[in-house]
Amino acid sequence: MVNQNEGPVMKGKILKIFKREKGIVSGEALSSELGISRVSIWKHIRKLQGLGYNIIATTMGYRITGSIDALFPWEFPDRESKIHFFPEVTSTMDIAGELARKGCPHFTVVIAGCQNKGRGRLKRIWHSSEGGLYFTIVLRPQIPPVLSLRLNFAASLVLAQLLRQMFRVDAMVKWPNDILVNGRKISGMLSEIEAESDMVSFINIGFGINVNNDPVAKEAIPTSLRYILGQKISRKQLLSGFLNKFESYINNTNLDNVIPEWKKYTTTLNRRVKVVTSRDTSEGLAIDVDENGALILELADGSIKKVIYGDCFHI
Ligand code: BTN
Repeated sequence: MVNQNEGPVMKGKILKIFKREKGIVSGEALSSELGISRVSIWKHIRKLQGLGYNIIATTMGYRITGSIDALFPWEFPDRESKIHFFPEVTSTMDIAGELARKGCPHFTVVIAGCQNKGRGRLKRIWHSSEGGLYFTIVLRPQIPPVLSLRLNFAASLVLAQLLRQMFRVDAMVKWPNDILVNGRKISGMLSEIEAESDMVSFINIGFGINVNNDPVAKEAIPTSLRYILGQKISRKQLLSGFLNKFESYINNTNLDNVIPEWKKYTTTLNRRVKVVTSRDTSEGLAIDVDENGALILELADGSIKKVIYGDCFHI
C-alpha cells in the first residue's frame, strides 16, 4: 500500500511552475526557483513521469504535455496536507478509521484509485474498479450522535445538487443516501461513527461514485457518468467541486435545514417501498422522513413504522 502523501509538496510546486510557464522550463530555472539541486529536480521529474505525468526532457529543459485525471494530494493545493491518496487499498473506510483514531484533523480525506475490499451498506461488497471515485471524509462535528445522520443527508443533498450543476443530469436522492439518475444508482454512501460521552468523536462518510468505471451492483441497476454523458469525466474536478461545496455547506448551514432541503430532491416519498434492515424487512408507503433522517412508513394494516437505517427498494 503506497501512500502518495510522502514528499508531495515539491511535486506540487514543480507542476505549478509547468502550469504557469506553459512551455519548456529549464532544470536550472526549476532548481533556482525551488532551491534544490538539478539532480533533485530530475529525481522528482522521474517520479512524476512514473506516476503518469507526461513530462518530456529536451536539451533545453522539461515540458509537460496533456493533463491526467490524477487524484494525488498536490492536485488539491488548498487542502493538500489533509488529502491521502492510495492507488489501491482494502477500503478507504479502514484507512480513514485508523487516521481518525490517531487524531487526524477535521475534513481529512482518504482517496483510493481502487479498493479490493470496498464495503457497501448492510455488509454488501462495493465493487471498486479503476475509473470510479472512492473516498472517505473524516468529520469531527461538535454534535450529539443522534444528529449525526443529518451530515449524511447533507452529503447526498450536496452531491445531487453538484451533479445537476456540473453535468445537467437529473440527479435525485433515494433514502437514505443513494443518488439516482434516471432511476439508476450512480452513487452510494456509507458512514461509520464513534462517540464519546454523548458527543461525536468522528463520523467518517465514504462515497462511491460511478464516474468512468463499469459499475457492478446487485441491489440496484447501476449507471455511471461516462455512460450517461458519453464521454470520460474528470474525477479530480468532480471531487474538488464536491469537497469545496460540502465543506462550505456544513460550515454555513443550520443542520435543522438539511432534511427539509433533501426532501425536495427525493424520489422515495409517496411511493410503496420495501425496506431491508439488518433485523427485518418491511413493506409500506413511504410517507415522510423525520428531522433526524428516519424513514416513516405506513404499513398495510395502517400502523406507522419508523426505520432509522437500512436499504430501500422502490416497488
Ligand atoms: C452503498 O450504497 O451500499 C454504500 C457504498 C459506499 C461505497 C464507498 S466507496 C468509498 C468508501 N469505502 C468503502 O469501502 N465504501 C465506501
